[in-house]
Amino acid sequence: MKLPFAESYKIKMVETIRRSTRNEREKWMKEAYYNLFNLRSEYVFIDLLTDSGTGAMSDKQWSAMMLGDESYAGSSSYLILKDVIKNLFGFNDYLPTHQGRAAENVLFSALVKAGDIVPGNSHFDTTKGHIEFRNARTIDCTIDEAFDTTISHPFKGNLDLNKLEEVFKKYPIEKIPVIIVTITNNTSGGQPVSMENIKAVKAMAEKYGTKVFIDSARFAENAYFIKTREKGYEHKTIKEIVKELFSYADGMTMSSKKDAIVNMGGFIGFSDRKLYEKCSVFNIMFEGFVTYGGMSGRDINALAQGLDEGTEFEYLETRVKQVEYLGDKLNEYNIPILQPTGGHAIFVDAKKFFPHLPKEEYVAQTLGVELYLEGGIRGVEVGTLLADRDPDTRENRYPKLELLRLAIPRRVYTNNHMDYIAAALSNVYERRNDIKHGLKILTEAPIMRHFTVEMDRI
Ligand SMILES: Cc1ncc(COP(=O)(O)O)c(C=O)c1O
Repeated sequence: MKLPFAESYKIKMVETIRRSTRNEREKWMKEAYYNLFNLRSEYVFIDLLTDSGTGAMSDKQWSAMMLGDESYAGSSSYLILKDVIKNLFGFNDYLPTHQGRAAENVLFSALVKAGDIVPGNSHFDTTKGHIEFRNARTIDCTIDEAFDTTISHPFKGNLDLNKLEEVFKKYPIEKIPVIIVTITNNTSGGQPVSMENIKAVKAMAEKYGTKVFIDSARFAENAYFIKTREKGYEHKTIKEIVKELFSYADGMTMSSKKDAIVNMGGFIGFSDRKLYEKCSVFNIMFEGFVTYGGMSGRDINALAQGLDEGTEFEYLETRVKQVEYLGDKLNEYNIPILQPTGGHAIFVDAKKFFPHLPKEEYVAQTLGVELYLEGGIRGVEVGTLLADRDPDTRENRYPKLELLRLAIPRRVYTNNHMDYIAAALSNVYERRNDIKHGLKILTEAPIMRHFTVEMDRI
């Protein structure tokens, strides 16, 4: 008999989670103003709000923490991570930050000014937020295939080189300080970018004279897809692929809470010493001295170990196959999900799930609320709420895709949990026509409203 696939780790420590009743969930959801971010975590049975900072650290990461050096300057922890970053990504200099958006804040303080244009592939919300906060604008150059959830393209995160070139033709180069390539492309479904594409983006950046930075939160999952989908890479190790991938970039911002499997942390990697020096000033102002930047020494140690483990094929195979397992179940139940399944999450196509609900009624958020009520499962809206208002007109922006993201934390849930999620979603799908109305906004913040918005049923 062929041996079935099995996880490449065993469990050493567990955490109790509690089921609740539908009545309890109705009450809690109302009290949370239909915003899943407002729920207490103890009210959630399976938490798929994010895969960010929610992973389970390994025994080796916990032991590395004991050796953390808490010196203010020049700690051994800083130097350990410096070596790992140099070996893995090829960058000589780095700045630690407390998380990914802090890395963006520091980098963009040095790089982006009012009136600038930053092209990329579906910039993540904090990236876009930091750019727009500086009165600069993003231009999304993601390939069109990414906006059709039914097309199965191996590298749906790719940038469309024609769209990118249009940006260079339209705007003066002094206004385009950087191209941001997000791997995997979270906003358009955790979809990977191919090596060929990133190489071409770098060539175009060199032709016009600008930089490429990689928003690297899920770089290892991206490398896994390159290994398993792109010709010529099947025999390379993940670490070799990562090294080549980052050789096409001038630097990286990293939210270490994802593929480095730590609960908090981030950094910026640089090939340009001058830019590193410029950013150091902002790092000291916003984060902390250049050798700790908002992180404790023990957390830096766990991060260095996590980067090594997170780029091992066996771990990545276990990880991506679990997401695929859930995707296969949902396909079996005919639930409309973004194809193919991405690296870290399932994205449910809420417009196809509830075709009868108007876009003004926050369709994906409505689905998120219904899934919580059904099974105590918490996902997150990646749709109109997240897209925010247009900074100039203050009108709602209606994105091409209206998705409910079910992000799978790393090394946390079993496939029994995946079966539970699939069954709960299937139950909501069966009663979809009974859900006649969506939600309306009561109050919202001027930027990144999805975190704090208060809503009510229509
Ligand atoms: C692609 C991407 N970039 C940046 C960030 C921001 O990172 P952090 O949450 O650590 O601030 C995230 C977080 O989810 C992300 O997914």
